[in-house]
Amino acid sequence: MRIDVHFTPAGLAPGDVSGRPVIVIDALRATTTVVTALGNGAKAVIPTATPEEAVRVASNLEKNGVLLAGERKSLKIEGFNLGNSPVEMRPETVAGKTIVLATTNGTPALVAAAGGEPVLVGAAANFTATAERARALLQDGKDLIILCSGRERQFALEDAYTAGRLVKAIRKGLKPVELNDAAVVAVALTGVYKNWVEAFEASAAARQLEEVELSADVAFAAKPDRFQVVPQYLDRRIT
Ligand code: MLT
Repeated sequence: MRIDVHFTPAGLAPGDVSGRPVIVIDALRATTTVVTALGNGAKAVIPTATPEEAVRVASNLEKNGVLLAGERKSLKIEGFNLGNSPVEMRPETVAGKTIVLATTNGTPALVAAAGGEPVLVGAAANFTATAERARALLQDGKDLIILCSGRERQFALEDAYTAGRLVKAIRKGLKPVELNDAAVVAVALTGVYKNWVEAFEASAAARQLEEVELSADVAFAAKPDRFQVVPQYLDRRIT
């Protein structure tokens, strides 16, 4: 039994994820947004590596059923219907819709995880449900990967903290689970902060969101277990 944490997708070698369960985290904000959209009734989320690709993908879908969403420097992309705020993913906005989402770090990480089996979308917002699903996979003999999206190819505190909380919850009460060094550090990080709010607020991503008056998203993302859904990315769609 083994759990490997990667602090950014840049550390993944080709084939690393192939056939292994992968949990992708972009705590502020992409995976929280995906969980919220699907928890509030969206039909699917299609992550893309770039905004241009999102426009292309959306143009091939039925116009009434699709919403383009995404950010650059945390702000809504011009011409898109929505930004990347979980608070925008209200039931009345997203129910029954397919959301094509392009973000700076989170959706490229999802695309990079595409060879995993399964690829799950994790956040504080679906923390317990994700931990339970991952634990079942581990008990089933699968070695897990927790992939943090990071920030501009660098370590991101909020993702690493979430990864550490997940490792602790997944392995609780099980016989020794082997961890890579990043997983050991992620677990240690959970002892540095009192709770989700304190850890998320200490991050550079939270400061960037504050600068553009999106601090409400940090508070939203730091509340655990809003949803029981564990979205799965398969065949280019998250459902
Ligand atoms: C991302 O995917 O890079 C993030 O969620 C950034 C953001 O929306 O502020």
